[in-house]
Amino acid sequence: MSADVVSQRAAVRIRRATVADAEVLALFGARTFSEAFAADNTAEDMRLHLRSAWRPELQHAEILDETLDTLLACDERGALAGFAQVRAAQPPSGIATRNPVELKRFYVDKPWQGQGVARQLMDAVETQTRARDARELWLGVWERNERAQAFYRKCGFRKVGTQIFVVGTDPQTDHVMLKDLR
Ligand SMILES: CC(C)(COP(=O)(O)OP(=O)(O)OC[C@H]1O[C@@H](n2cnc3c(N)ncnc32)[C@H](O)[C@@H]1OP(=O)(O)O)[C@@H](O)C(=O)NCCC(=O)NCCS
Repeated sequence: MSADVVSQRAAVRIRRATVADAEVLALFGARTFSEAFAADNTAEDMRLHLRSAWRPELQHAEILDETLDTLLACDERGALAGFAQVRAAQPPSGIATRNPVELKRFYVDKPWQGQGVARQLMDAVETQTRARDARELWLGVWERNERAQAFYRKCGFRKVGTQIFVVGTDPQTDHVMLKDLR
């Protein structure tokens, strides 16, 4: 395995992103966000969110950002099946942590959902988190996103609070979920 490969199993290989991945990641992130959430948001809120979060220059900067790890799950042809981004960040106030890492984004493409790719990606995220000497992994997930919540519970996360996440102009309630890695 090369130094950048984090995990390799039958279905997908997980590796760190490089700047050469920025454009593909921007397209993939925008598409998977739209597929997951367009039905439950206005077209204008979606447009505003996508423009603020998914542009090749933004993903280029994120990949270069040393406080952020971007992991890509790639199929045997090298095409993206999913990705995750983690960074050192505190959860909302009132949630006690010592050395937390935030799972900022976690997406698996539809054909790969229910196939074990999400679990493989989460295992890689936990490995990265431990490599940062972090003790807790936390995330925000929309209160209406029941599939993701079920997946995170399966992985050992529990709900510890809530936070607001603004999509376009719409302030939405996220469940904050946390996993103690010790
Ligand atoms: C969230 C995500 C990464 C999970 O990956 P996945 O491969 O779908 O996860 P799994 O299939 O292993 O687990 C999902 C669980 O939810 C359950 N589930 C499916 N649909 C559900 C629903 N509508 N409501 C509640 N639970 C549901 C499944 O049965 C499964 O549990 P099981 O294995 O005990 O049967 C993936 O669905 C995804 O990328 N979704 C779109 C983007 C997204 O929501 N990202 C998270 C943002 S915080």
